[in-house]
Amino acid sequence: MSPSPYWLRDNCGCTGCRDPRSGQKLFQIHELPDDLAVAARTESDGVVEIRWSDGHLSRYPADRPIAAADPDPRSEDAKRLWEAADFARGVPAADWRSYLDDPQEREAVLAAVQRSGFALLRGVPAVPGHVLEVARSFGYVRETNYGELFDVRVEPDPTNLAFTSAAIAPHTDNPYRDPVPTLQLLHCLENGATGGDSGLVDGFRAADLLRAEVPEDFALLTRTPVPFVFRDRRTELRAERPLIEVDGFGRIREVRFNNRSTGTLRLPGGAAPDAFYAAYRRFAAITLRPELRLELRLTPGDCLVLDNVRLLHARTAFAADGRRHLQGCYADLDSLSSALAVLRRRTAALDALEEMFAGEGAAEYLGEDVTVAEHMLRAGALAEAAGAPAHLVAAALLHDVGHFGGTGAELMRGRDNRHGRAGADRLAQWFGPEVTEPVRLHVAAKRYLCAVEPGYRAALSAASEYTLGVQGGPMDEAEAAAFAALPGAADAVAVRRWDDLAKTAGAAVPPFARFRPLLAGLLAQAPA
Ligand code: OGA
Ligand code: ZN
Ligand code: ZN
Repeated sequence: MSPSPYWLRDNCGCTGCRDPRSGQKLFQIHELPDDLAVAARTESDGVVEIRWSDGHLSRYPADRPIAAADPDPRSEDAKRLWEAADFARGVPAADWRSYLDDPQEREAVLAAVQRSGFALLRGVPAVPGHVLEVARSFGYVRETNYGELFDVRVEPDPTNLAFTSAAIAPHTDNPYRDPVPTLQLLHCLENGATGGDSGLVDGFRAADLLRAEVPEDFALLTRTPVPFVFRDRRTELRAERPLIEVDGFGRIREVRFNNRSTGTLRLPGGAAPDAFYAAYRRFAAITLRPELRLELRLTPGDCLVLDNVRLLHARTAFAADGRRHLQGCYADLDSLSSALAVLRRRTAALDALEEMFAGEGAAEYLGEDVTVAEHMLRAGALAEAAGAPAHLVAAALLHDVGHFGGTGAELMRGRDNRHGRAGADRLAQWFGPEVTEPVRLHVAAKRYLCAVEPGYRAALSAASEYTLGVQGGPMDEAEAAAFAALPGAADAVAVRRWDDLAKTAGAAVPPFARFRPLLAGLLAQAPA
């Protein structure tokens, strides 16, 4: 099946169709001609060129005609459906400190929430209010009539069964809100009571089982709107949604299940809702199957992050005189997914750099006795040993990436490959100017130092002396003055000195991996 011409044209990436800074579309869909057609299609050098019937020209990479549309991360297709036994060797968990300090750990936790519907953070200070910090570590707190956060403990005048010591059957929270909060956090401050254990059930798995066992019941639950209500003295909330929501392709996307707050079903056309109740009861029974229920006991400092449109959570009854105190808050999946995507972007950037070091970096370095990778790793290590700030360590480590792509040899054949600029341009997709400018200027810094610092030129390596000529020789007085006035001049000179020192054969070099956390920190600050 060939794609609709409108689909292809809608994904044209040219600067007339998309704003180059934001990537947002500049045209309106109705502005495309009614009889849009491909007038001519050619392919060469991995680029497909399409000339349209209205004269517009589009270019697409041949191997990937347009940015492949990833599956909706909310759909069951993007999830790992589970039963309790799948976590026999432990649940997705991380220590709060390492979650904060290590982007890889953070990525793993957020990915677990996205794929499995939950993760457990341990060692979150058992201090009131800290649950908000957890939510803010990946997104935004959803304030409600309960406030920014809510306390789950026994209260004298409970407006919700949550605030008693009764058992609570598996449920999702707050289905009476529209939009429903898509994430819930539960942070344990105290759990000295007998009982009060937690249970988790994958609502998508339960829905999937219902679909397999009684497809008509599944279908009925996807199309019967159920009113959910909550009221107290100050609040009256109501939302009407099906228990199981599917997307346009019929795939499970949301589950709402909360017996406590289910209102009175409307009866369309006065029909008796027998069939609905049969399906509802069957679904409820599935959610209670022991093999579906993952049991865990929260201890102080534990914080559960739950997908509240997928996972059902429960607790067992507890002794009313025992001390048990949780704090919870709501947040949303879209911001969690965004945080995860940005972390993944960062990981992809680091992987790409690491690959360059391992691949092209292993090549001989322009007549020196070290490889390009060894040379750059050594420069990074020297900067680090000198106590340089992170952006300069990164600049030293990455200063010669402009040689990659096979242009290094050109330089030795007497043609300036302008590797400072090429490297800076390549790095600009990931780093800000505090990293890219010293890289851009590190060749100029050599020409500058030759002009202003007696003895500097004589100490250059033979290869470096050779390339100096190719690169234009020492600066004249006016050039040197102009260079010194550049805002990035001092940083470029610092990088240059580590560069010059980093050509000794046999010196120990750290692995690239050692620099990943430092680079990750800089990537986080870069404007994307
Ligand atoms: C709730 C709830 C869980 C618990 O308040 O909705 O599910 O462990 N509480 O008390
Ligand atoms: Zn709850
Ligand atoms: Zn160098």
